[in-house]
Amino acid sequence: MKKQISAIKGTKDVLPREARKWQHVEAVTKRVLELYAYKEIRTPVFEATELFEKGTGQTTDIVIKEMYTFKDKAGRSLTLRPEYTPSVARSIIENRLYLQPDPLRFYYIGPMFRYDKPQKGRYRQFHQVDIEVFGEEDPALDAEIVEMANYLLRELKVSATENLVNSVGCKKCRPSYIKDLRSRAEEVKRDLCPDCKRKVDLNPLRIFDCKIETCREAAKNFPRITDYLCQECEDHFNRFCEYLAFYGIKYKVEPRLVRGIDYYTKTTFEVVSSKLGAQNALIGGGRYDDMMEDFGGPDLCAIGFAMGLERLISVVPFTEEKGEFLYLVHLGDESKRAGMKAVQFLRREGVECLIEYKERSIKSQMSRANKLGAAWVLIIGEEEVKEKKYKLKNMASGLQVEGTQGEILKIIRESS
Ligand code: HAM
Repeated sequence: MKKQISAIKGTKDVLPREARKWQHVEAVTKRVLELYAYKEIRTPVFEATELFEKGTGQTTDIVIKEMYTFKDKAGRSLTLRPEYTPSVARSIIENRLYLQPDPLRFYYIGPMFRYDKPQKGRYRQFHQVDIEVFGEEDPALDAEIVEMANYLLRELKVSATENLVNSVGCKKCRPSYIKDLRSRAEEVKRDLCPDCKRKVDLNPLRIFDCKIETCREAAKNFPRITDYLCQECEDHFNRFCEYLAFYGIKYKVEPRLVRGIDYYTKTTFEVVSSKLGAQNALIGGGRYDDMMEDFGGPDLCAIGFAMGLERLISVVPFTEEKGEFLYLVHLGDESKRAGMKAVQFLRREGVECLIEYKERSIKSQMSRANKLGAAWVLIIGEEEVKEKKYKLKNMASGLQVEGTQGEILKIIRESS
């Protein structure tokens, strides 16, 4: 036996039946995002490693442990994007999109790569729906984004979700919080895992991302960032919450929701699902008002979110509507040729057709059409070829009629 080659750990094939569900989710998502005036933007799958080191942040688990980084043949360090936000920011600056009058609202659906520990809801190649908006400071936008996320989930019939919100402050107010957080973390350092021990010096905020029980327990007694917000950040957060209430959106303030990425400022939020188990975040996002300037671009504030498609798809209810299709039954070479022409004609007229080229008896082709769930069978035997009149059978009613190509098309059209 020859050795089989398997898919890489942490990656997943989406087989045709499941792909239908993906197509459904993607179609609904695009429709909703376009209702909110988002436009698609596509950037390359790999970027300079530096982009994520600078954007996602040097102290994040993503950059420290999870990037697929490699050298290309010219010795450049490249990375398969672990997230989309830095790529969009780079593209806007590089293409000077901010000089155009169009609203800076973007979306993208595609694969991301993280060398994470594979488990349910966590993959090494996974897919995100990502949205980003630039240049709007008003917390009304933050609320609109959460409202849109909720509307999208409703359109996809996803239930049992909860909105968690927080503010992580800004450059002005965060340093004094970090100082107090660090000294509190120092006091309990011996109870922390080796990773978190390092985080005390590096960036104590990242201790909140740790999933280890003893670290989570310790973090419960850490100071809350919401007690340290400057006036501007506090006003922004209060107004954000007021707008959520104005939309009638339920939310819970979660002061430990700092999210695992360094760039956030002010608003952070997540939509979690009680149906997902340990990896319960369906959507995560927030403001990142400093990235554009840090990337050498204009001083443009920004906000966005990303939604994990594998996780989303696992909670979307979906029953596939059976597509109507015609199965062509043929016998012998001439009949096959006539069949090839007939399905070519019907396909051009918008009828889904399947012709298979194995030599089988009429009976076995009929039973195959039945098994595959064909709505119609078109039978072209020797006689039918001579007379140029084909037999059409409606598989549901069992009714059979005879006609030319054009007559057959008319019958199919009239019945749908
Ligand atoms: P994130 O929280 O790292 O944020 O990821 C967003 C979502 O992607 C998660 O809530 C989850 O649904 C999904 N996800 C993340 N990692 C995995 C994985 N290994 N396997 C399966 N699904 C996963 C970001 O990526 C930010 N770029 C979001 C953002 C956009 N913030 C502002 N703009």
